[in-house]
Amino acid sequence: MYTEKVLDHFSNPRNMGEVADANGMGIVGNAKCGDIMQIFLKVSDDGVIEDCGFKTFGCGAAIATSSMATEMIKGKTIEEALALTNAAVVEALEGLPPAKIHCSVLAEEAVKSAIVDYCKRKGIAIPEGAIVEEHEHDHGEAEEE
Ligand code: FES
Repeated sequence: MYTEKVLDHFSNPRNMGEVADANGMGIVGNAKCGDIMQIFLKVSDDGVIEDCGFKTFGCGAAIATSSMATEMIKGKTIEEALALTNAAVVEALEGLPPAKIHCSVLAEEAVKSAIVDYCKRKGIAIPEGAIVEEHEHDHGEAEEE
């Protein structure tokens, strides 16, 4: 059901944990499954993501997508990181079951949310494409059980 890559990133997650001197943090959740993903960025003065990390309270696929997403944005500029799509994360993991695609959406949204936070803290304009609109993925407030 899961690819070797997914199992590898689930079993040996890369960049797990907070980044001590992070200057951008994003947190998103999916109200349906209740999973929460947090991304930390340390962005240099010239806009390069020098370090990043994640904390994910969620399913194995959410952990694997967090791990892969942080690997894919490390060393990139914030503009490049903004171009990261959930489809690219899924492709890098060599696929996810259809019921787990929303886990990769959380990863894309968490990265964008962390970049928005970084821009706000820096007082710089939020780049186009960084704002994730409220939509069918139901991130945000968890529904009451
Ligand atoms: Fe919801 Fe994986 S089941 S993030």
